[in-house]
Amino acid sequence: MVGGGRGLAPSRVRELAGTLRDLARLLGGNRLTDGQDLRALPAEEEASLQHARSRFAVPEAWRLGRRLTTVGDVAVVEVRDGADLVAVLKLSRSPAGDASLALQQEVLSLLAADDRLGEWRRFLPEVLAHGVLDPRRYMLERAVRGRVGTSLPDSALAGGGLRSAVLSIAALHRATGGREVATRSLVEGWIDPPLARIADLPMLLGRTRRLALVDDVRRRIRSGLEGRAVWISRTHGDLSLGNVIYRAAAPEVAGILDWAQSRDGEPAWIDPLTLLLVGRTQRHGRELGDVVRDLRRSASLTAPESDLLMAHRAACPGDRVDTDVMALMAWLRHVDGNLEKSPRYAAHPVWVHRNVERVLTAAAASHHPGRSGVSSARGAAPE
Ligand SMILES: Nc1ncnc2c1ncn2[C@@H]1O[C@H](COP(=O)(O)OP(=O)(O)O)[C@@H](O)[C@H]1O
Ligand SMILES: [Mg+2]
Repeated sequence: MVGGGRGLAPSRVRELAGTLRDLARLLGGNRLTDGQDLRALPAEEEASLQHARSRFAVPEAWRLGRRLTTVGDVAVVEVRDGADLVAVLKLSRSPAGDASLALQQEVLSLLAADDRLGEWRRFLPEVLAHGVLDPRRYMLERAVRGRVGTSLPDSALAGGGLRSAVLSIAALHRATGGREVATRSLVEGWIDPPLARIADLPMLLGRTRRLALVDDVRRRIRSGLEGRAVWISRTHGDLSLGNVIYRAAAPEVAGILDWAQSRDGEPAWIDPLTLLLVGRTQRHGRELGDVVRDLRRSASLTAPESDLLMAHRAACPGDRVDTDVMALMAWLRHVDGNLEKSPRYAAHPVWVHRNVERVLTAAAASHHPGRSGVSSARGAAPE
């Protein structure tokens, strides 16, 4: 018992001091919507395109078009030949953006050279040019023709669009992985580094309680995964509809974008789970933390969501794993990916609260930490 009697015990004082320090870090932090300095952007875009023309024989006629993303650590700009969208320029705005573009370029060239992938490589965007123009990095990708998944109507997504995305990514998983038993050291390798980073985020939860809650997550994932057969492969790591381009004519995948968070040697179901969880946030206007908290507590997957996971499992077989465990893994990966992508997430008090603290404290509300979050037998693990 700390803090009993008169005065505060030293451990309680340390705890409070830590909370105050975190509060100061939070209040002093940037907001996610803080714009980057846009004044320098047009000149940097022109310089990058000029570099691409002179070093990579990109046609002179290609011109910069609309900016697709300006906030964030990488600006994304259309490149057009007349009215045709021919390429997309990705221009870093910060050291984190440089690192993210460099990683993406590395993953794309690794996958392009991987003969196991054969025809599947048609889904990858082709890198037309790249460079570092003191001090920022850029990359020019050929445009994948079609419609971005976020612009597809629900009827097209339900009528085959989501299934096509799951089967397309499952083909990558099949080609690059296999079924293995998730040993303790494998599971620790997946979860300990991101959990340590999460535990270190500035939050209003005191340190002792935060560490206990992080430990609950660790124990829950370990108990749900260790000893089970899992399909382990390369993952995309950020599979959501904004990163999938569909053919204009039919809800079939034409390309998969945004490979900066791809990793090798992970449970393959992280990708379809991320697609489903981020899909829920987009449909319901909620944060990922809210969606994962619900699944941790009692919510179950819908029948169409379970069907998509079944389709993935048919391609990449493994033991059934409880939904809350899969959701926690996908959450951990997503949060960690965001922290890697930009330091601004860690300094954003509302983001940390909604996406991290809410998931951590959801455990405290659960009276059955060992139960499945799935109501139907389908998504639950065999005991
Ligand atoms: N190669 C490409 N072909 C077609 N559209 C693209 C391409 N790259 C990016 N886009 C468009 O730009 C958007 C943002 O690009 P993306 O690489 O996903 O960056 P981020 O999500 O990190 O901002 C995508 O959702 C897509 O609409
Ligand atoms: Mg994206």
